[in-house]
Amino acid sequence: MSNVNERILGIIDFVRGCYEAQTRAFSAFEYGYLGELILKNKVTSVLDVGTGEGNFISGLAGLTPSVMYKAVDADPELISSAREKHGTANLSFEHMLFDHSFPYGNFDLITARFAVEHMKNVPEFISDAFTKLRSGGILMITEYFIDTSYAGNSTWKLFRDKELEFYHNIGSHPRISLALPKYLKDQGFSGVESVLRHVSPATVGSLEFYDVIRSYANLYSAVEPGLWTKELKQQILDYCDTSQTRASGREDVLFVSQTTGIKP
Ligand SMILES: C[S@@+](CC[C@H](N)C(=O)[O-])C[C@H]1O[C@@H](n2cnc3c(N)ncnc32)[C@H](O)[C@@H]1O
Repeated sequence: MSNVNERILGIIDFVRGCYEAQTRAFSAFEYGYLGELILKNKVTSVLDVGTGEGNFISGLAGLTPSVMYKAVDADPELISSAREKHGTANLSFEHMLFDHSFPYGNFDLITARFAVEHMKNVPEFISDAFTKLRSGGILMITEYFIDTSYAGNSTWKLFRDKELEFYHNIGSHPRISLALPKYLKDQGFSGVESVLRHVSPATVGSLEFYDVIRSYANLYSAVEPGLWTKELKQQILDYCDTSQTRASGREDVLFVSQTTGIKP
């Protein structure tokens, strides 16, 4: 049985806007972080697991032309679209499930961006990644953390509560970030580190931030219309429009974690 939550497969038309908005909003800090990690550790080969349409990894490949990238995804439609959209010479896409039988190995760096939250067995993925890295290689996992404790106002609180419920309904992990450091350590990684990024209108730009929230509302309501009703979706879209243009601004917040470990 595959390690991927089937609920997120075969829905390219629903997820596309979301993946593009996330790349636009988050990549500035992600590319800086990964660029430094690649330079400092003399990385020359990277595997991206769960690459989606390849928006994020193609940007990174363009910034680091001497590094060879392989990017895989379990969804054939996403990979065929990635191939059409991104023709970078140092990046190849393959439709492939990443598990213990994955035929390639000895990578300097394995990345997984917003993919682990949709895996059925996360420790198993981390153990498989360990075997596919060279000694001294790095696993770098980027994940979402759905925080429902901060509520600047009732609509933001509603958005986060319903987002959490959505994750539970589809069987994905809304707070996997918090478990990752221990999982990495348990599977034999050393030098485990994790940071939580504060993603907000002030840190990534108001337009980019609320575009991400709009894309989530559209995605959630397409996948779970019973929970994310038309009315709820519209309420969140209206909230984004007014928040984005408020003279005083709003400071709603998302958290994104970056967790790394080194194979000894
Ligand atoms: C939310 S998407 C993220 C896409 C992309 N990384 C991004 O940031 O835009 C997660 C993707 O991971 C893929 N995925 C999850 N587990 C996988 C595995 N074990 N092997 C291959 N693909 C996997 C899913 O098919 C899905 O397309």
